[in-house]
Amino acid sequence: MDKIRILGGRALEGRIAIGGAKNAALPLMAASLLTRQSLVLTNLPELLDIATMAGLLAQHGVGVSRRKGDGDSRGPLELNAAQIASTTAPYDLVRKMRASILVLGPLLARCGHARVSLPGGCAIGTRPVDLHLQGLERLGAVVELEGGYIEVRAPKGLKGAEIVFPSVSVGATENLLMAAVLAEGESRLINAAREPEIGDLARCLQAMGAKIEGIDSGCLRILGVGELHGAHHAIIPDRIETGTYVMAAAATGGRLTLTGTRLGLLAALARSLEAAGVALTEREDGIEVCAGSRALTSVDVTTAPYPGFPTDLQAQMMAVMAVAEGASTITETIFENRFMHVPELARMGADISVHGASAVVRGVKHLLGAPVMATDLRASVSLVIAGLVAEGETIVNRIYHLDRGYERLEEKLAACGARIERVGDGG
Ligand code: EPZ
Repeated sequence: MDKIRILGGRALEGRIAIGGAKNAALPLMAASLLTRQSLVLTNLPELLDIATMAGLLAQHGVGVSRRKGDGDSRGPLELNAAQIASTTAPYDLVRKMRASILVLGPLLARCGHARVSLPGGCAIGTRPVDLHLQGLERLGAVVELEGGYIEVRAPKGLKGAEIVFPSVSVGATENLLMAAVLAEGESRLINAAREPEIGDLARCLQAMGAKIEGIDSGCLRILGVGELHGAHHAIIPDRIETGTYVMAAAATGGRLTLTGTRLGLLAALARSLEAAGVALTEREDGIEVCAGSRALTSVDVTTAPYPGFPTDLQAQMMAVMAVAEGASTITETIFENRFMHVPELARMGADISVHGASAVVRGVKHLLGAPVMATDLRASVSLVIAGLVAEGETIVNRIYHLDRGYERLEEKLAACGARIERVGDGG
């Protein structure tokens, strides 16, 4: 199993190109099920999760191919669901990636039926899908759970309805938005998630002929249409990848220019880091991060749905606060078990005490390199950031987690001066 070896202590200096957003690409790929025509996506990141979604869609009968790209070596991804061969998403695929649940809404809207394995939980929480199912029932679907599968039917088609989410859910908002665009009549999604990835999905659906208003607000109004047509869509930059490299620069006291991204996607993180002493500036070609002019000071952070501080950046912020002056309280309000990076950071000398949903991080002068274990995608990269700033050698094990959400991470960091390499088992 691959590992990453890091020799810490170098300030990062250089430029990093940010890729397309994984969490926009996944629902956008699922949206191809809504039309017989081709959906062409550009700025697609090369990630394990993208390949998993492509495999899932292919077994539904979606033609998935790369067009010869002009500049972009990988080229645009063309998805064509003219024929849907199967409306079942099998357990052995869904268990690999929970976001597979995002085919539920589009399959139901297009075919009147879907059978999707329950995704089950993961390291960070139980990850229920009750809000997805309740919303589909509001649109007139019959939902049954049987043998670990969700069976949804709407033989007479879906009917528009008002859906009020009791709590904000990114995935449920995406599934129901994709179902509602082909429902008969008007739907309103109240207390909808406002993450930029949802705005990106909505704009792509509009380009496919959907009638959607209130994009980026917490209230989406959709007027169903008979069918959608194909479109070309460029995926927004990945704000979590952006925030991760911003924090790698912050922790190492470095100076990075992140291209192909924009500061507006990171307002909550920018506020926290500026308070901690990191300068972030919007440039023509992206974002400039300058740290190191003074010691980092601790700031308190509480995760929240967008536009609050992203839960997907919480672990990375903890690694930064581990070497800041003072004490920081980091509170995780979205997932019930998203502190698994704490014991691993502690192995490197971090002083962190967890009290329920909050962790008190007392900054230390130095972290010390150590062998550590990655447990989930964002915890893994938190350990990489800690390794970059620690004295000595850090080995991060189980880095398949990293490959799900970060494209060429060690190459991008090495190009900015980090002493980091991927080693096989023998390494
Ligand atoms: C999306 O997951 C992201 N994944 C997650 O990113 C991200 O952490 C999360 O949104 C929150 O921003 C993708 O976009 C593929 P939710 P999702 O539904 O949609 C509860 C990463 O690292 N809930 O907004 O699954 C749920 O348990 C990943 O890239 C219900 O109770 O998140 C959680 O506590 C990790 N019932 C909270 O809501 C439901 O039916 C937020 O979940 C659905 C969710």
